[in-house]
Amino acid sequence: MTTRLEIRGFEILKGCLDVPAQHTLIDALRPVLKAAPLFSPDTPYGKPMSVRMTSAGAVGWHSDRTGYRYAPQHPQGTDWPAIPQAVLDIWNDVTGLERQPDCCLVNYYGDGARMGLHQDRDEANFSWPVVSVSLGDDALFRIGNPTRGGSTESVWLNSGDVVVMGGPARLTYHGVDRIRFRSSRLLPKGGRVNLTLRVAT
Ligand code: SIN
Ligand code: MN
Repeated sequence: MTTRLEIRGFEILKGCLDVPAQHTLIDALRPVLKAAPLFSPDTPYGKPMSVRMTSAGAVGWHSDRTGYRYAPQHPQGTDWPAIPQAVLDIWNDVTGLERQPDCCLVNYYGDGARMGLHQDRDEANFSWPVVSVSLGDDALFRIGNPTRGGSTESVWLNSGDVVVMGGPARLTYHGVDRIRFRSSRLLPKGGRVNLTLRVAT
């Protein structure tokens, strides 16, 4: 059963995906990870991110010393694999939009990985929402404000939770302070997978 929370304009659908649906997603992601292996992008400041990532879709998110951008290919020089239908189904269920996402960023948080407070602002049009799917270990998700600074609120995201970041909250700062490594048994080697679906172009 889904419990709907709203925090600072973010819609948090706790328990949106049951355990069988979570396993279906992990199975659907295996060929994606095989075709487009996880990599650790450098931040524009030259430090590698602690989160490893890859993408599916027409474009994938990439970062290096020249900045953040959406790229048509994986750094290994191949097109990104298609977004699995099981992932698109979540977008369709929670947004009801006809427009389909063209990027599914796959973030993997191992033990100690985190993501600093940031805005999602590399997309062409901020009127489309960003949909985030949590799988595996629990994550402490922090939500700030549409501009840098000010107070923040935190919420634990568990496996199967879905967050919709849209409307006036589309540019709200957010990040992941830490994960509780091995708190979930979904992934045999532990860790957390976060999918973010976006209309990027
Ligand atoms: C992100 O903001 O790109 C990821 C959020 C999350 O991992 O929950
Ligand atoms: Mn983000």
